[in-house]
Amino acid sequence: MSRPCRALIDLDALCHNYQLATELAPQSQAIAVVKANAYGHGAVPVAKALAPLAPAFGVACIEEAMELRSAGIEKPILLLEGIFTADELATAAAQNFWLMVENLNQVEAIINAELSAPLHCWVKVDSGMHRLGLQPEQLDDVLAVLNNSANVHGDIVIASHFASADELTRETTAAQIDCFDRAVAAAPLAQGLAQSLSNSAAILAHPKAHRQWLRPGIMLYGGADFDCAHKNLAKQKPVMSLVSKVISLRSLSAGERVGYGGRWQAQRDSIIATIACGYGDGYPRHAVDGTPVLVNGVEAPLAGKVSMDMITVDVTDVAGVKIGSEVELWGNTISINRVAAAAGTISYELITRMPARPTRIYRAAEN
Ligand SMILES: Cc1ncc(COP(=O)(O)O)c(C=O)c1O
Repeated sequence: MSRPCRALIDLDALCHNYQLATELAPQSQAIAVVKANAYGHGAVPVAKALAPLAPAFGVACIEEAMELRSAGIEKPILLLEGIFTADELATAAAQNFWLMVENLNQVEAIINAELSAPLHCWVKVDSGMHRLGLQPEQLDDVLAVLNNSANVHGDIVIASHFASADELTRETTAAQIDCFDRAVAAAPLAQGLAQSLSNSAAILAHPKAHRQWLRPGIMLYGGADFDCAHKNLAKQKPVMSLVSKVISLRSLSAGERVGYGGRWQAQRDSIIATIACGYGDGYPRHAVDGTPVLVNGVEAPLAGKVSMDMITVDVTDVAGVKIGSEVELWGNTISINRVAAAAGTISYELITRMPARPTRIYRAAEN
């Protein structure tokens, strides 16, 4: 048996999640966000699976866009942060990469470039996140400059991004929508242009933000979460299952300790299963004792610090565990959001930081 730690990627679930986004916002089109190697799932296989459904893709930089083009993805690709340097513009024009335009340096570079084709631009307004975007009062002037440039296509999209759309107990998303709508209302040149506000959380829970273009990311991978219950969360399906097997078993007497630093101590005579999956496989090192692990189909608690290649689990209450028993670290039964919470992080980080070591095994999409 070779090392059994694997990341199973369910491309059918991926397509289901994409369709969920478009069903929740049937008047909108959805850009599939596949940056950071499709949140750790493999940008090329994910984009290939979604290509029959998605009119365009979203990535963080031109290198990520080129990876998709080189693999034969022909759909438009939006660079979500736009260009970093002016020399990217010629490639963007030649490859039909769409550009977020979020600051005046980018505007200058675009209008001064010599290009083979006009660029599709998304003008980003800072509606309150204060990370990227033009000031609302700059919108009309920037649209005038872009409209006057032969380097810019006529179909500009006005966009913004939310800081806390996943925090349903706060009012900040409503305030951002209001700020955005006021910026558009005050800009005569923005009238009638398409708009894009919604990341996953807004698609799932803020219908007022749906507009013409959606930008789903984490929900495609089944990892969206909120600060309170919401009926749409259960409609997403997990895409990545991190699985492995039990590689060793031992009986301990009450009082004995397990793993580095002996963090976990047996409170009773116990059975400890050692599993081939550690932080070198993307399992979070900060997971606390008690983090749920599915062993032989039964939930059991992590017992002891996570090592690079292994974890230890208290399987005293799990019947029939043997060397070779199946383990799910997260996936269909153990929600990745539970594991993330037990490690003080978020699903985005766990999947995006998934290293190459666990072999990715793709279950084909049926579209
Ligand atoms: C501009 C932009 N749009 C959309 C997304 C997708 O967000 P989410 O993964 O929360 O759906 C991101 C992610 O960071 C983003 O930066």
